[in-house]
Order: sequence, then structure tokens, then C-alpha cells
Amino acid sequence: MYGLINRAVEDLVRSKFGADAWHRIRTRAGLPDEPFVTMQKYDDKSTYDLVGAASAELGAPAEAILEEFGFFWTVYSANAGYGELLKSVGRTLPEFLGNLDQMHARIKISFPELDPPSFAVFDRTPSSLKLRYYSDRAGLAPLVRGMLRGLGDRFMVDIEMTNHRVEDNGRAHDLFDVSWKERAGAPSRA
Ligand code: HEM
Repeated sequence: MYGLINRAVEDLVRSKFGADAWHRIRTRAGLPDEPFVTMQKYDDKSTYDLVGAASAELGAPAEAILEEFGFFWTVYSANAGYGELLKSVGRTLPEFLGNLDQMHARIKISFPELDPPSFAVFDRTPSSLKLRYYSDRAGLAPLVRGMLRGLGDRFMVDIEMTNHRVEDNGRAHDLFDVSWKERAGAPSRA
């Protein structure tokens, strides 16, 4: 994945656990003590190794680290120069989720080697939808859970979700059942 992602992992660890924790995690992951270059493509292994090392150092399951990172990412990316792009993706949660592939397609213009996931929304009601998440990478459903929670905050809705792996329907993927309620005091988006 692009250095942008590893850098965000670094920023999350540094801001929550400090520079020493980051140093230990980076060393345990066997990564050199040099800054990640945002626009450089790194082997996916470096990201998985970072998550594994963070899990060991912080004593939390890898799934919890991924989920926390997904949550962090929704705010981080908005502050890392992608705020305007994110605004254009959608004004409501369902609109936003329906446009994720278009969003990554636009990002691919500046990151030509991007290998993005794919999402499909279906069974939409005014307060729920189902989301299929396709990726060539393994084990990242917890990342998507965290991103959905972060998007819930962005759109000021309380989200509930369940997800499970679907292996028997053509291409294997993760299926998310998502429902939401407007938060008390949230501006109407009708
Ligand atoms: C404007 C903000 C965003 C940017 C700049 C961005 C960019 C990226 C980049 C660079 C990668 C790594 C892939 C690679 O390097 O080949 C990635 C992966 C990913 N993105 Fe985004 N993204 C953004 C927002 C989102 C949002 C809001 C979601 C919500 C669901 C999302 C879902 C994912 C997932 C799940 C992956 C992991 C890769 C995989 O599943 O195979 N992204 N994105």
C-alpha cells in the first residue's frame, strides 16, 4: 500500500501511545528508521507487519488495531488534504457509501498504482443498507468496521452493524448489515 497508509498508522500510534511505543513497534516490524514516503508504494507486508507488531506491543488483538485505525483514518484523511474530496463523495451516509468506488477511482488519478477495494450497496431503506466489501487483501473487514464507525461520526448518526464472510456467492467478500439513527441534536439532512 502507499506510504500514506503506513504514515497514518505511525501518526495514530505516536498520538495515542507516544514516540517510544512507535519506536518499539517499528523495530519489531523490522522496518528501517526512516520516514514513510506518502507517494511511494510499499509492500503490503510492511502494513500487516506493523499491525502485527502493534498488536504484540500494545497487547490488543490485530482486529482491534485495524478497527481503531479505520476509525482514525476517516478523520485523518479529511485533515490530510482530502477534506474537499470527501465532501464531494456524499452528504449522507448512504450516498457516501454508494460512491466509494468512484472516490477511490478519483484517488487513483494521483496514486496510479492504487489497488483499491470495491464496495456495493444494496437493499437500501431510509435507515439501513447492506454493503458488500471486496478486496484482494485478506483480513481487513475490521478496518472497514472502524471506517463505518468513523463515517457514522462524520454524518452524526449512531451506527449498528454486523458483518460476516461470504464464500459461496461468486467472488468471496464481506457482507455488512448497517443500520443507523440520527443523533439527537443532529441537523436534518433531508
Ligand atoms: C479521501 C480519503 C481516502 C484516501 C486518500 C484513500 C486512499 C487509500 C489508499 C492509498 C489505500 C491503499 C491502497 C493501495 O495503496 O493500493 C486505500 C485502501 C483502502 N481504502 Fe481508501 N482512501 C480514502 C477513504 C476511504 C474511505 C472513506 C473508505 C471507507 C470504507 C476507504 C476504504 C479503504 C479500504 C478498506 C482500504 C484497504 C485496502 C483493501 O481493502 O484492499 N477508503 N485507500
